[in-house]
Amino acid sequence: MPRIPVPLESCHLIDLPKVTDRRGNLTFVEGSRHIPFPIRRVYYLYDVPGGAARGGHAHRKLHQLAIAVSGSFEMLLDNGREQTTVRLDRAHTGLIIVPWVWRELLNFSSGAVCLVLASRPYEEEDYIRHHGEFRALVEAAAAPRRGRKPSAAG
Ligand code: TYD
Repeated sequence: MPRIPVPLESCHLIDLPKVTDRRGNLTFVEGSRHIPFPIRRVYYLYDVPGGAARGGHAHRKLHQLAIAVSGSFEMLLDNGREQTTVRLDRAHTGLIIVPWVWRELLNFSSGAVCLVLASRPYEEEDYIRHHGEFRALVEAAAAPRRGRKPSAAG
């Protein structure tokens, strides 16, 4: 179990390798090498209508890397106490998203494609789909446990 609320800095942009020649660009990702988890699943979002939002949930265990392989979109990140928004608009830059961070994908440009590399197979039980429940779980995990004796170190 990570420290909750998870520091939002745990979600960060990474630069991926980019091989450029006169035929164009090539970017690659190896699990456990360029990203800190093995890749168990790949999915992508595309043909997102203007004004539509995706996401709107947190995960208990899933680690992900999201890449705007075409176009752009914004990722709102929320640890239950603070929020930040990251814009993704380069095919060689990915955003690491760790468990216990609520995410919403917004403001997709026309033709945008969001590629996601995920550490686990699809598991509906890994989702927290209600923001109120997410905030309550974060506060419960953050609260000092009742009845615990103070340690020798205080
Ligand atoms: P969901 O994760 O809620 O979409 P998003 O967060 O991008 O808005 O998934 C939408 C639907 O697709 C839901 O019924 C579950 C299904 N789904 C799978 O079957 N496998 C997958 O790997 C993913 C990501 C979704």
